Amino acid sequence: MPVNLLAIESSCDETSASVLSDGKILSNETASQNVHEQYGGVVPELASRAHQQNIVPVVDVAIQKSGMALSQLHAIAFTLGPGLMGSLLVGSSFAKAMAQSLKIPVITVNHLKAHVLAHFIDEPKPQFPFLCLTVSGGHTQIVQVEDYLKMKVIGETTDDAAGEAFDKSAKLLGLPYPGGPLIDKYAKSGNAHAFHFPEPQMPQLDFSFSGLKTSILYFLRDNRQKDENFIEKNMNDICASIQHRIITILLHKLIKASEETGIKEIAIAGGVSANSGLRNAIVTEGEKRNWKTYIPRFEYCTDNAAMIAMAAYHQYLANDFAPLTVAPVARMEF
Ligand code: KG4
Ligand code: ZN
Repeated sequence: MPVNLLAIESSCDETSASVLSDGKILSNETASQNVHEQYGGVVPELASRAHQQNIVPVVDVAIQKSGMALSQLHAIAFTLGPGLMGSLLVGSSFAKAMAQSLKIPVITVNHLKAHVLAHFIDEPKPQFPFLCLTVSGGHTQIVQVEDYLKMKVIGETTDDAAGEAFDKSAKLLGLPYPGGPLIDKYAKSGNAHAFHFPEPQMPQLDFSFSGLKTSILYFLRDNRQKDENFIEKNMNDICASIQHRIITILLHKLIKASEETGIKEIAIAGGVSANSGLRNAIVTEGEKRNWKTYIPRFEYCTDNAAMIAMAAYHQYLANDFAPLTVAPVARMEF
């Protein structure tokens, strides 16, 4: 009998629902929130309110598009953490109430493990063991993946996440939130070597991005003292140079991780893996180093419930269910 699951993701600013049957995604509906644009970052209180408004229609559409009847569902999965507490509470309360009314169990999913398992939605799928560079607005880590449910973090950021580095740099340039995609856009017409930003020397496989933000701040301040239109005149080159530095920080650690583990199956996940410069760099570097590289479709790079459903499917097969008393966790152990 096929395993049918509904999954809900609400950890940050996307409300998403997905239906899976026997390891295949039947639907994946996501409502993004643009109320945060004017504030330069996600405002937790506004995010929870928007989830509250979006969750019923998003789940409805996901169910309808899947063609699945509610009575056919075997379990409901939701993101337990990490994420914004108010946002997580909307998804978890909804999922638990629905599971209770349908008399089926719940499955709780770690958002970061789900980003890794997004690689099993489409073909080609990575072979175990593989390395996954997860780069999002909240996290930057290199994960060594031995099996669907067996993975460990071998490197991570000690301060800002890569997505934050993009977004905070964009904010310094006067661009709206989230600035990552805008930096990507301007960088396409710029010279990546026009300006130099330093690469931090971090031990082992760890990352740091806060120094980059500070160097950009001083760089812009000094140049604007000489020419107040410096940013407008050089937007493409500044974006290309910032993007180049963020990418090389990520790439150098990924190369080191591959050399140390001997693993050449290389995957990237999370919102920042939508970045065209990073995608190109991984492919180009991969060709040189004989890597097999895996980059999910755009809709599975950013936050989505399909990846939660995929993680939940493997947890279901491993009999990993949670009691209805379970509560979300803002900071969650990997
Ligand atoms: O995974 P995600 O959707 O949400 C989190 O779990 O954080 O990632 C969002 C992050 C934001 O920081 C956004 O600026 C960044 O991904 N991002 C990008 C691009 N698209 C999204 N950064 C650089 N280039 C892009 N094209
Ligand atoms: Zn995410």
